[in-house]
Amino acid sequence: MEKKVAEMLNEQINKEFYSAYLYLDIANFYSTKGLDGFAGWFEIQAKEERDHALLFYKYLHNNDECVTLQSISKPEQLFDDDLSAPLKASLEHEKYVTGLINAIYAAALKADDFRTVQFLDWFVKEQGEEEKNSLDLITKMQLFGSDTKGLYMLNSELAGRTYTAPSLVI
Ligand code: FEO
Repeated sequence: MEKKVAEMLNEQINKEFYSAYLYLDIANFYSTKGLDGFAGWFEIQAKEERDHALLFYKYLHNNDECVTLQSISKPEQLFDDDLSAPLKASLEHEKYVTGLINAIYAAALKADDFRTVQFLDWFVKEQGEEEKNSLDLITKMQLFGSDTKGLYMLNSELAGRTYTAPSLVI
């Protein structure tokens, strides 16, 4: 594997674990607000991000590349009492991650590394879904979140999210 592509894939392990940490921090925020459904939704999101990190980890090992684990940054977002702010931060973060995936994809293509391109295809699709999920949450919050009954119903809906392992098997 080209050195640059391997380095970017290694870096992505850290970015995905940071995503997990960020979403756990958001779950933590909603927990302190008594919104257990929102908290549960983001706890599951954190698990998915951990899964993503492990997929990059496994892919590098499967291709005889070394993995170097780096320290994970502290989530710096402070949301005060704005219940919508974490949802907006989440969408912005997903757009950022999409950019990272696209950059690795471009580097792999440039290196004629079609195996990595094929591996990343799943993530390209996944990012589309994650951005849509984040946007849908913002829209629902705008529509229903300003009224206590609506917020209660939305919290109940989000509590129904269940964890499923990633469909990508490597
Ligand atoms: Fe692993 Fe939400 O991107």
